[in-house]
Amino acid sequence: MAAAVSSLLLFGATGDLSQRMLLPSLYGLHADGLLPGDMSIIGTAKSDHDDTEFRSLAKAALNRFIDTGRLTADTVDRFLARLRYVPVDATKPEDFAGLVEAVGPTDRGLAIFLSTAPSLFGVTIDGLSASGLTDGNVRLALEKPLGDSLETSCQINDSVAAIFPEQRIFRIDHYLGKETVQNLLALRFGNRLFEPMWNAGEIDHVQITVAETVGLEGRVEFYDRAGALRDMVQNHMLQLLALVAMEPPAHFDAQSIRDEKVKVLRSLSPIDAATASTHTVIGQYGPGAIGGQIVPGYSEELTRVSGTETFVAVKAHVDNWRWRGVPFYLRTGKRLPLRQSEILIQFKPVPHSIFAERGAVIQPNRLIISLQPDENIRLMVMSKQPGLDRDGIRLHAVPLDLGANVFTEGRRRIAYERLLLDLIEGDSTLFVRRDEVEAQWRWIDGIRRGWAVNDMTPKPYAAGTWGPSAAIALTERDGVTWHD
Ligand code: BG6
Repeated sequence: MAAAVSSLLLFGATGDLSQRMLLPSLYGLHADGLLPGDMSIIGTAKSDHDDTEFRSLAKAALNRFIDTGRLTADTVDRFLARLRYVPVDATKPEDFAGLVEAVGPTDRGLAIFLSTAPSLFGVTIDGLSASGLTDGNVRLALEKPLGDSLETSCQINDSVAAIFPEQRIFRIDHYLGKETVQNLLALRFGNRLFEPMWNAGEIDHVQITVAETVGLEGRVEFYDRAGALRDMVQNHMLQLLALVAMEPPAHFDAQSIRDEKVKVLRSLSPIDAATASTHTVIGQYGPGAIGGQIVPGYSEELTRVSGTETFVAVKAHVDNWRWRGVPFYLRTGKRLPLRQSEILIQFKPVPHSIFAERGAVIQPNRLIISLQPDENIRLMVMSKQPGLDRDGIRLHAVPLDLGANVFTEGRRRIAYERLLLDLIEGDSTLFVRRDEVEAQWRWIDGIRRGWAVNDMTPKPYAAGTWGPSAAIALTERDGVTWHD
């Protein structure tokens, strides 16, 4: 691992991500003594602020997004003292001089975090390069969206690669910072138990659901250009799929893990014009109710009619020896009934039930890896209901808790805490490599072409339901029910 940097430069420092996630995460690391003692954090954005105003903005963000119990005046003050602010209009090369002055020599390392509109990536990187802020001691983190197709993603990657070698580029997918996602690696590769069963011989199918109750959340224009497939499946859900499906890496390091993930992403069976309508379902929410609250439909929130999907379900396959014939059902959507993200591994039934003649039904084992709202891992196993069984044997699926619930000490961290610390310390294992992003886009572009050729438009679903009924039919056709 490389040495920790002595400065962190945050582009987009006054934006929503910075206030909700980045500043609270940096505070969490600071409060736990995990940031280098003298590391300064320099915020930058187009808006005109000075250090004092930026510190007030940061303080307000901490008050809003961190439990008051974790905010002690002294710790907050020492954290705020790390912060400085330099206004930069990235389109004006002369503005970068102020940054150079604030950052000082880069010989003790600089990490730059770009959380700005992708249209500004190119000019920002040019400005940094022209002002000498891209030398061998500088690492660059890029927040999504990194393009909206393979072509635009390649353009962004090319412009970044012209200045930064791949080893110094840290592409963020915040799902990789989630504890349970990393725990999936521990479960698969820290136990002998699962790996012999982790294949088409033993697994019937896999479901990956990322359900959200929120709607547009003020990101109207961005979301309407992206849609659920590009906002969630292209990145987070394909990363989850890759971690479930990858071969055991030889080492726990950036190259070995990413080498295995990219093989999976390249093995995804293309979905094209011939299969888009049978393997995908798209939807858009109309008015409805969630948790007893009436909510407007997508087009009302947007104030115009739109063809963008807010829900997508996909039946994917990984074309390799291990996963031949095993469907991976993916679904994600806005305004669904629950905030629930999980991976479900459905094992095949026992080959012969000795309990059938005693009236008992056996449910095949399931492994349920929950990311949200709770982080835990449960293995559902059959167990006998205690009793004398005069009326037959009763078996029930009971959960074996394999997850983080057993670790009670330590607080749950924001995914960005892990990723920011890894960036500061130079460990790129949990960041996405260029070839992964491009394999993801290649598959997604194929689906989008399939939708266009088939004139597929989103089917309506009422907010607060699990998407259009066609999404239920997608799995029911295979005799599979979504785990709600
Ligand atoms: C983001 C998407 O990448 O992930 C958002 O752009 C989505 O639309 C968010 O709401 C979900 O993240 P999480 O961590 O809340 O599941």
